[in-house]
Amino acid sequence: MDSRRNFIKKSAIVGTALCLPIFWTRESAAAYPDLKTRSPKKALILWYSQTGQTRRYARLISCILKEKNLTVDQREIQEMNKNLLPAYDLIIVGTPVFYYDTPSNVSDWLATIPSIQGTPVAAFVSFGGPEGNQHNASCHILKLLAGKGGVPVGRDAFRNIPSYPTPGWNSANQISAQHLPNAATFDQVRRFAADTLERISRGETISIGYEIALREGLRALPLVSMNKKLINKHTVDAQKCIRCGTCVRKCPTKAIDPFKQIVDRDKCLACFGCLNNCPADAVVMEYGGKRLYGFPEYLKRNKITIMEPPEFNTCS
Ligand SMILES: Cc1cc2nc3c(=O)[nH]c(=O)nc-3n(C[C@H](O)[C@H](O)[C@H](O)COP(=O)(O)O)c2cc1C
Ligand code: SF4
Ligand code: SF4
Repeated sequence: MDSRRNFIKKSAIVGTALCLPIFWTRESAAAYPDLKTRSPKKALILWYSQTGQTRRYARLISCILKEKNLTVDQREIQEMNKNLLPAYDLIIVGTPVFYYDTPSNVSDWLATIPSIQGTPVAAFVSFGGPEGNQHNASCHILKLLAGKGGVPVGRDAFRNIPSYPTPGWNSANQISAQHLPNAATFDQVRRFAADTLERISRGETISIGYEIALREGLRALPLVSMNKKLINKHTVDAQKCIRCGTCVRKCPTKAIDPFKQIVDRDKCLACFGCLNNCPADAVVMEYGGKRLYGFPEYLKRNKITIMEPPEFNTCS
C-alpha cells in the first residue's frame, strides 16, 4: 500500500516537473495582415466534439455573439464546405485536446482550407487535465489559421470532465473534474466571446506563444499507435448492436463497420468516439485486458448530470 502511495507521489512530482514551462516561443503579431473588419457581422463557429463538451461551448459562444447582433453559423467541422470560409468576417474554431495535441483530423482539415486573408480568427479547446497541453493545442489551431491569412484575436481553454475512458474511470483528473463545467466555466466562455469582439473593435491581435515544457517531448512520441497496442480488443457485439449507425457518424476516419463487426485498426485514431457514443454498450474495447465502458455509462453509474448554461433555454 505504502509503495503504491510512494509511486503515486513520485509520479505526481515527475508529472509536475514535466509540465513546468522551460521557455516560451512567441510569434510576432506584426507579421499578421490587416484585419478585414473591425465590426464583424457574420461569424462562423466550427467545432469538433466527441462527447459534447466542445459543442456545448461552441453553442454558448454562438448565443453570446447572437446577443451582440451578429449572424452566426455553427457547424461540425467535417460537415463544413471549406470554400465558404472566406465569406465570414469572424471564424472561431473549437476542439478537444487529444493526446496532448489538436486531434489530427482537425489539423488535417484546417491545413487545407482556402485563404482567409485578413479574417479575425479565434480558437478554444476543451480539455480534461491541467497538465494536458491545452495551451499549445489551442495555439496550434491559431497557427494553422494564421498560415491561411487569418488574424488571431482570441484564444482560451475550458476544463471539464475528461472523456478518456480508463477502465475504472477513476483517474485523478476524472475525479477532480467531475463537477466541471460549472457556472465559472460558462463565465469564462462568455468572457472569451466578449473579449474577442472587443479586441476586434480595437483592431488588436494576440500573439501565438507556445509553452515549451519537457512534456512537449510526449507529443513527439507516437502516442496514438502506442495506445492502440494496448487496446487488445476492438470490435462490435452483434447481439447488442441496434444498428443505429452512431459509431459510423462519430468515427472521424470511417474505421468502424458495425454491420460487419469490423474495425480497421490502421485507420483508427484511438479517439474512443465509437465507444463513448454507442447507446447500446455494443462497442467492445479492452484496454490492457480490461473491458472499457463509454462516457454515457460512466455518467450514469456516477449519477453525474452535466450542467448546461441558462442561455440554452432562450437561444435557438
Ligand atoms: C482519446 C482522448 C485523448 C485525450 N487526451 C487529452 C489530453 O492529452 N489532454 C487533456 O487535457 N485532455 C485529454 N482528453 C480529454 C478531452 O480533451 C476532454 O474530455 C474534452 O473535453 C472532450 O471534448 P468533447 O466532449 O468535445 O469530445 C482526451 C480524451 C480522449 C477521448
Ligand atoms: S473506430 Fe477508432 S477512430 Fe473510429 S471512432 Fe472508434 S476509436 Fe475513433
Ligand atoms: S453505435 Fe453501437 S448500437 Fe449503434 S451501430 Fe454502432 S455499435 Fe451498433
